[in-house]
Amino acid sequence: MMRYFIGNWKMFGVPKSINILNKINLFHSRDKNRNKYRIIITPPFTLLETYSKYFKNKKISIGSQNCYQKEQFSSNTAAISPYMIKSVGATYTIVGHSDNRSEGDTNKMLKDKVNFSLKNNLKVIFCIGENKQEKKNKKTLAVLKKQITNVLSKKLNKKNIIVAYEPVWSIGTGELPSADELKKTTIFIKKILKGIFKQKSPAVLYGGSVDGKNVESFKKIKEIDGFLIGGASKSSKKFIDIIKNYYR
Ligand code: PGA
Repeated sequence: MMRYFIGNWKMFGVPKSINILNKINLFHSRDKNRNKYRIIITPPFTLLETYSKYFKNKKISIGSQNCYQKEQFSSNTAAISPYMIKSVGATYTIVGHSDNRSEGDTNKMLKDKVNFSLKNNLKVIFCIGENKQEKKNKKTLAVLKKQITNVLSKKLNKKNIIVAYEPVWSIGTGELPSADELKKTTIFIKKILKGIFKQKSPAVLYGGSVDGKNVESFKKIKEIDGFLIGGASKSSKKFIDIIKNYYR
């Protein structure tokens, strides 16, 4: 089963930060497990074009962290569409990260973002996750189900979709779900996705405070197809440690 290690840089990086990716790329090229996983990095928009061109024939894929909910061009200041992202060579985009949901991304907007991205041949990393209050009120599964069914539908090509489960309370906090809890939630998410796509579920990743240490406790959960990594993806050593310890 193909695994994914996705590094989400958020608001981090300048042109010379490409050194971090060079180290990761070098590690990958010598890793005996390299055919078992894919590496995707999402730098800020400012670096998309140079990084995409540089890694074009290498093993790291480049994606954006978000996109605008219009297909090509429009009059929205500072907006960047899937067509524009694809045109500079990126191959993925994150849609629905909790940072952007909390800034106002609605299900309707997310649906447009997913549709236009796929239409423009960008693969989608679709993020879902409950917040602390929802978890406390035992609403996690209901919230996740709604987030999925409001945006994804049967007509989409599931081969180009990756779902990332990121509990909002776990992002950047060091707090983690228990392995048991995470296994149950992941199985639930895959069941909903199978219901939509009628056969196999797309890949489902976990994200939220993943590091080289705690990844060991998650590797026994076979249902998890990989990880979306924020903080630890800004250091080549930390990111490589996650991959090394996952396969150890
Ligand atoms: P984190 O971020 O690994 O720093 O918790 C994950 C994310 O927001 O994608």
